[in-house]
Formats: sequence, structure tokens, C-alpha cells
Amino acid sequence: MMLKKVLVVGSGGREHALVWQLTCSADVGKVYCAPGNAGIAAIAECLPIKEDELEKLAAFAEREHIDLTVVGPEAPLCAGLVDVFKSRNLTVFGPDRKGAQLEGSKSFAKDFMIRYGIPTAKAAVFTEEAPAADYIRGEFASGAKQIVVKADGLAAGKGVLVAPDCDSALKFLKGCFEGTFGKAGAKVVIEECLEGEEASILALCDGNTIVPLVSSQDHKRVFDNDEGPNTGGMGAYSPAPVVNEAVTRQIESEILRPFLKGIRKEKLYFRGVIFVGVMIHNDRARVLEFNVRFGDPEIQPVMRRFCGDWYDVLYKTATGRLSEAKLIWNERPAVSVVMASGGYPGHYEKGKVISGLAAAAATGAVVFHAGTACRNGEIVTAGGRVLGVSALGTDIADAIANAYAGVEKISFDGAFYRHDIGAKALKK
Ligand code: AMP
Ligand code: GLY
Repeated sequence: MMLKKVLVVGSGGREHALVWQLTCSADVGKVYCAPGNAGIAAIAECLPIKEDELEKLAAFAEREHIDLTVVGPEAPLCAGLVDVFKSRNLTVFGPDRKGAQLEGSKSFAKDFMIRYGIPTAKAAVFTEEAPAADYIRGEFASGAKQIVVKADGLAAGKGVLVAPDCDSALKFLKGCFEGTFGKAGAKVVIEECLEGEEASILALCDGNTIVPLVSSQDHKRVFDNDEGPNTGGMGAYSPAPVVNEAVTRQIESEILRPFLKGIRKEKLYFRGVIFVGVMIHNDRARVLEFNVRFGDPEIQPVMRRFCGDWYDVLYKTATGRLSEAKLIWNERPAVSVVMASGGYPGHYEKGKVISGLAAAAATGAVVFHAGTACRNGEIVTAGGRVLGVSALGTDIADAIANAYAGVEKISFDGAFYRHDIGAKALKK
């Protein structure tokens, strides 16, 4: 059999974890990544094509006879990468532009959830500031303690405020309508604030079948004990004990089944992954958001635990044969700790030399690169989230200890990380 060629689009820790698992597949002969990063370059061929250069990506896939293209981030999906690839008969993992609206428009996602009875927070949608402001005042007047204000479109993770009081909600709202998030803020979704513990459910879907991966949990706040502003995610572990058997069943019956029904009924093209962010309270999950891509860092511990043939699974999803795919998991939990640049998620400097990567690998940790680059033969920082240091363990405490043993070997100027990744799982 001819060995397969795969193209992964993106440049973060997520893409490194996907590439890492794809290179383990016996059927795969060559992995390309566009544009990739310094860590990915060590195990795949990185291409000087940006993730938003859809035509160039498709031309490359066609010319090189790529068997499967896997899209990491949401932006190219929302821009219609899958539509471009499909029009050239190229096999690609991801939803088309319309399906990607489940992430690209929070009001589209909300309407979809309501149509199919998927449990979620009560919400209202506005295209003008004055009625939105009245609504917010009304919610606080009738006893709301907090309210969530969301720019409708993609805003690189910055378009959501969980507002502790009316004034901050109104200020954020004003920013949305004044263009802080460009077109993404021209429509605003205002939501009831849900309480509980968050978890991430990543489920493969080919339009006929939906199959959840093992559960995981992110750590969104920048500092220990969930303090400070939200980030893209400071670390993750899998499985998440909060997703117990009862919750797993409820997610299956009240969220994933109705999701699939909606996709079919509305004839949305969805051969990729649906990432359901849920809030769990009293053993019941409600949906906070849909994303149409793998979560980062969540996919890092999930990839550490995967034991099957990842190429086969993604290829079958992309070609509508997900029901035949075999998902095999290591029982052992995994943890990934993100090391970030000083100042992240605000302003940070780049170009700091990273040392200790080989020593970290020698502990048994796998270090996924996010914002890194190669400069004169040295690996340097090139983004806010720099590395994800991941490890398996006999139990969650062991996995945490193993991941931090790797972290301690690595240094770069200004490096910081959370010290409590996985702590919530230990309390269970
Ligand atoms: P989103 O992009 O919609 O997931 O929002 C980002 C983060 O804001 C989530 O991961 C939650 O931590 C928080 N969030 C969003 N919606 C709500 C809600 N309705 N209640 C409480 N927290 C929320
Ligand atoms: N870790 C959250 C996300 O990928 O959006």
C-alpha cells in the first residue's frame, strides 16, 4: 500500500499534538504542516503557507496528492477552507463555512441549540446598544448577580465578558458596538451566567455518526486558583472526573444526539470535530459554546491518551465512515501544563531563547510547541503560549507530578505557568 500524505493547517500546540499522533500512524509516510512551528518542524515538513491562504493550501494539496488535510484553527474553517477543498475534490477534515457558523456566530449557535432543545443558558440577541443596555439593566434589577456579554463573531477569545456588575457589562457592551471587535461585535449575545464546573467535550462527527473522545478540562484563567483574565488555556487534563457516568449519558442524550439530528435536518456539511464547552452543575451539563475544531490545550492530553490509528480515525471522519473507526484509549490520565511568555495574555516580548527541552524530554514528558520559532539554530519564543508540557501517569496525581517534572527542566526569560493544573481533579 502507498503510504499516505497528510497536511495539517495551523501553528499551535494543538497542531503539534495532532501532527505527533499522525506521525505514529503506520499508514502515514509524510506529514506537512502549514505554517507549523519549531517543534512541528522536528517531526514534519513545515510549509511557508499561512492558514488563511486557502487557495495556496488547496493548490499544494492538489499538486502533492495529499490524502487528507486536517484543519486546526477556526478562522480558516469560518473563511471557507473546506468549501475550497471540496470544490477541488480534496479530502479534508472539518465543517464547511456554513457548518463553521456554529462557532463563527454565537447567535447562530444559540438558535441551533434552541431549535433542537439542547440545554444552554437563557440568552437574548441585539444589534443595537440601547435595547441591549436596557436588557442588561433589567436583568440586574430582577436579581441577576452576574451577566455574560458576548460579541457574536470570532474575536480571538477576547469577545466574552462574565460581568460582575451592571457598569462593567454596559462598558463592554459599548465597546462591542463601538468596534472593539470589528464586525464581530456588531451583534451581541447577552446570557444568563451559569454556575458550576466547566469541561470540554470533543466529539467527532461525519454527519451520520457522532463519537465523543475522552473528556478533558481546560484552565482558562491565567493565574493559579482561577484568578486573573481569561486566556486561550493554561493547561488541561484528561479525563475530567466531573464528567462522570451520569453526566456522560446526559451529554450523549441531551446534547450530542440532538446536535447530530440538527446537522442532518439542516443538511449542514460537518465532517470534523464539534467541541462542546459545557458547564456542569448537580450532574447536569449545559452548553456554553460550540467550537468547530479541537480545543487547545485540551487536545494535548487527549492525544497523549490515544492508542489507535489517528490517521484512520480522521480519514474515516472526513469521508463519512466514522462508524467504522476504532477509538482506543490509554486508561492512564494525562496532563499538559502550558508555559507562557511573561505578560501573556497582555503584551509580551518574543525571541527569548528556550533551554532544557532535551532534559524535559528525558523525563518522559512530551513537549508540544505552540509559539516557538527557530533562530540561528536555537529555539526561541514566538508567541504568548509557548509550550505545552504533557505527561501520562498511573493516576492524575502521578500525571501532574510527571508533567511538572518536565516543566522544571525548561527555562526562558519571563517564562511562567500555573502551578495547579489538574488540582480540581484531585479534589474529586
Ligand atoms: P465562550 O467563548 O462562549 O466559551 O466563553 C468563554 C468563557 O466564558 C467560557 O469558557 C466560560 O468560562 C465563560 N462563559 C461563557 N458563557 C458563560 C455563561 N453563560 N455562564 C458562565 N460563564 C460563561
Ligand atoms: N482551550 C479552549 C479553546 O481551545 O478554545
